[in-house]
Amino acid sequence: MQVAIDMGVAQGGAEAKLDLEELLATRLLVQGNSGSGKSHLLRRLLEQSAPWVQQCIVDPEGDFVTLADKYGHLVVDASRSESELTTIAARVRQHRVSVVLSLEGLDVEQQMRCAAAFLGGLFDADRDYWYPMLVVVDEAQLFAPAIAGEVSDEARKLSLGAMTNLMCRGRKRGLAGVIATQRLAKLAKNVAAEASNFLMGRTFLDIDMARAADLLGMERRQAEMFRDLNRGHFIALGPAMSRRPLPMVIGVARNPDLPPSPHLSPLPA
Ligand SMILES: Nc1ncnc2c1ncn2[C@@H]1O[C@H](COP(=O)(O)OP(=O)(O)O)[C@@H](O)[C@H]1O
Ligand SMILES: [Mg+2]
Repeated sequence: MQVAIDMGVAQGGAEAKLDLEELLATRLLVQGNSGSGKSHLLRRLLEQSAPWVQQCIVDPEGDFVTLADKYGHLVVDASRSESELTTIAARVRQHRVSVVLSLEGLDVEQQMRCAAAFLGGLFDADRDYWYPMLVVVDEAQLFAPAIAGEVSDEARKLSLGAMTNLMCRGRKRGLAGVIATQRLAKLAKNVAAEASNFLMGRTFLDIDMARAADLLGMERRQAEMFRDLNRGHFIALGPAMSRRPLPMVIGVARNPDLPPSPHLSPLPA
């Protein structure tokens, strides 16, 4: 069965399609600076594919909890023990329910530990339950950082290990990683390298542009086009979307609970 997800409008006016089966086999990396429209894009992808495939969203900012209202996702508040989270994840696979792991309000170290425990539970599920599942991780550089930060080595190891398992060894177990990052240069290379589909949004820093060009096999000069992209505009590349870099505008998500863009209003007198 072939399912084409409608992502919006491609250059030239045609519908921008994403082949869901192909995506499950080949994974996706979304990159774009803060405000470029990554979370909105993920939301669109999740809404459009909800009827077709089980989903898990690792949600560091609470952008996805309202998927519960319309699409029946179970929201798991991560403020509980790691072993509990692992058990819940195993049950989620067994019962094939879609789930949002809400990490909002936890400090970074806790977010890493909880995401690792949950992803570990999905990964280690019994072979009988290896059904296909989209596993979306927003702000993936938090969970798979390229360099050691302020968090403990242990938390970083756990989290990076879980992300590496997801992206490098998840496919056999039915797990299809979809990761989004605002800074490609901050994301661990081995985690980024396993995606074969890309959606590239607005990018300013040379170092991120250079990484993007390397990943996509583009000339550095060609990657300059990422600088001029508007919010919601992405360049798609990969077997699930297009064999050549294809500019597209992401359609509106039906139920966005993303914070509205800031707008100016006069200060009180
Ligand atoms: N394709 C789009 N169509 C309409 N609004 C969008 C689109 N992409 C993003 N937005 C709006 O722009 C703002 C920033 O988008 P967001 O997805 O939160 O950016 P990011 O996750 O990259 O920081 C949000 O208010 C979102 O609703
Ligand atoms: Mg976001």
